[in-house]
Amino acid sequence: MTSILSRFIDSTAKRPQGKWARQYYGEPKSHMKAFAQTMEALAPRPDDAHLEIGCGGGYFLGMIQPKVARVAAIDHSPEMVEVARRANHDAVAAGLAEIVQGDAERLPWPDDSFTCSANTSMWFFLEHPERVLAELRRVLKPGGRLVITTIRRSWFNRLVWALYGLRLYSNRQMARMLGDSGFCEIEVVSKGLMGQIVTARKPAASVQGQDKANHARP
Ligand SMILES: C[S@@+](CC[C@H](N)C(=O)[O-])C[C@H]1O[C@@H](n2cnc3c(N)ncnc32)[C@H](O)[C@@H]1O
Repeated sequence: MTSILSRFIDSTAKRPQGKWARQYYGEPKSHMKAFAQTMEALAPRPDDAHLEIGCGGGYFLGMIQPKVARVAAIDHSPEMVEVARRANHDAVAAGLAEIVQGDAERLPWPDDSFTCSANTSMWFFLEHPERVLAELRRVLKPGGRLVITTIRRSWFNRLVWALYGLRLYSNRQMARMLGDSGFCEIEVVSKGLMGQIVTARKPAASVQGQDKANHARP
């Protein structure tokens, strides 16, 4: 039973694969609100180099690509990478989008490659979020912005998502995790009953190594 359940979770969300997943993540209707919230929090600029981790079928990547100079994305599901490349075919062909298969714990880009990074509906699957944060901090340029859109820890959400075994964090825990990983200007806000949006920056060159004030709102 446990292995049937874990295969179901893997194939539908944690490492999507199969016909249903390819179709669903091509246009994940239930994620549109999170995409809009992420876009608003990220406030993309024309000169941004943007990185998305856990891009799924690349729908958000397609939304943000025309708003920035270039985009890159990584996902550990080979099938999602294929869907995302197909969905962003023109931008990939023009050299404006790069989509790679791999683990967010080991990002295949040099230091200081991106001005901003976002991820949606994937943080709760990370076994070592601190490793991912270290990698994001490494590949972001000084002053680079980070947005994480996930589900926050609450008794209600733990009940609803119990079967999925998601790793959920309170706003305070999230703020601490980001602060411990060397990010600054951290804000963690609740959205509706479930949502949690984290915004933070890699310290600018002059303040690297110092922590600025962190804020966690209920
Ligand atoms: C629930 S889906 C969300 C996809 C997309 N971000 C969205 O909101 O529609 C989670 C995605 O994160 C990817 N993922 C999970 N853990 C990952 C990891 N450690 N490294 C890379 N990708 C990961 C999965 O393969 C999957 O495509």
